[in-house]
Formats: sequence, structure tokens, C-alpha cells
Amino acid sequence: PGLLLLAAGLAYLLGAVPFGLVMARLFGLGDLRSIGSGNIGATNVLRTGNKAAAFLTLVLDAAKGAIAVLVARAVLGPDAAQLAGVAAFLGHCFPVYLGFHGGKGVATFLGTLLALSLPVGLAACACWAATAALTRYSSLSALVAAALSPVVAALLGRTDMALAAALLAALIFLRHHENIARLRAGMETKIGRK
Ligand code: G3P
Repeated sequence: PGLLLLAAGLAYLLGAVPFGLVMARLFGLGDLRSIGSGNIGATNVLRTGNKAAAFLTLVLDAAKGAIAVLVARAVLGPDAAQLAGVAAFLGHCFPVYLGFHGGKGVATFLGTLLALSLPVGLAACACWAATAALTRYSSLSALVAAALSPVVAALLGRTDMALAAALLAALIFLRHHENIARLRAGMETKIGRK
């Protein structure tokens, strides 16, 4: 249990690194928290118009979850891998470095899923991409992918990770309460718009 706690703590600290803010700083884009939705994720970085910074944010925020899972699995096994993925996700949403005011967890969620199960992760990414292609709403795409991921995990024979997927999906819904209100009011911005 000591090793599991240590793994969860390290995964949390990795997940808490806010790559959106780091990229915005590196590319001289200003403080993301005063742009667009104010969120620290790739969708909001894209609102600055800098696609490279947005892409790097997406990849690095996803990599936090994936690396936490892969290292924990290699060192401690599959249960630790799930714990580390959840911890990295919580780090992104509630980062100690930002007074626990973090992001919405979508990229880290997708990276975690991809590392826990490539087929489940790819299916979740496909749900995101299909919804985005149809609606151009990043938040709605995340909500659809999150809601379907436990179902997809079960359908693909990975019932062992359905609970973790459901927990992360529930947290993604909670983190998107402002987006859900905007979607219901027809006020949500589409991908790439300011
Ligand atoms: O990745 C978060 C996304 O689902 C919504 O981001 O900036 O539109 O609130 P944002």
C-alpha cells in the first residue's frame, strides 16, 4: 500500500503540471485564464489562434495520463496503473501548483484510457472526433466520449476498467457544468472560435 500511495502521489504531481499555461507562456499568448472560457486546456489555447500551442497542449496533457499509467503498470502492475491514471487526472483538475483550480481533464482522460487499453482509448477518441465533426463543440464531444467510455470498455471486454472510466466520466461532467449551461442556452463557442 505504501508503494501504491507513492505511485498515486507521483502521478498526481505529474498530472498537475498545467501544460496549457506552460505553452501559452512559451508562445507568448498571455494568461489563458483571462481568455475565452478561462480554462487551461487545449480547446482554450486554440482560441488564441495558435494551433501549434493547442496541439502541444493536447498531446502533453494526454501524455501525463498515459505516462502515469504505463510507468505504474511496468513497476507495480495493472491495479496500480488504474490508480495512477485516476491520480494524474485528479492532478490536472485540481493542481496543487494552481491552488487546486485546474482544468476539465479531457486530454488527460483520453491519454489515460489509451494507455489502459488502446482499443477503448481509440474508441473514446473516435466518439470525441465524430461528435466534434458533427457539432463543432469541444465540450459536447468530451461529454459524449466520457459518457460512452465505460460502456465501450464493457463492450470491448474490459469490465475491469469500466469503474475507473465511469468515475472519470462523472468527474468530467462535474468539471463541465459551465459548458453544459452554455450548451443548453445555445451560448457555447464552437471549436476554434473566440
Ligand atoms: O477540454 C475541455 C473542453 O471540453 C472544453 O473547454 O475551454 O471550451 O471550456 P472550454
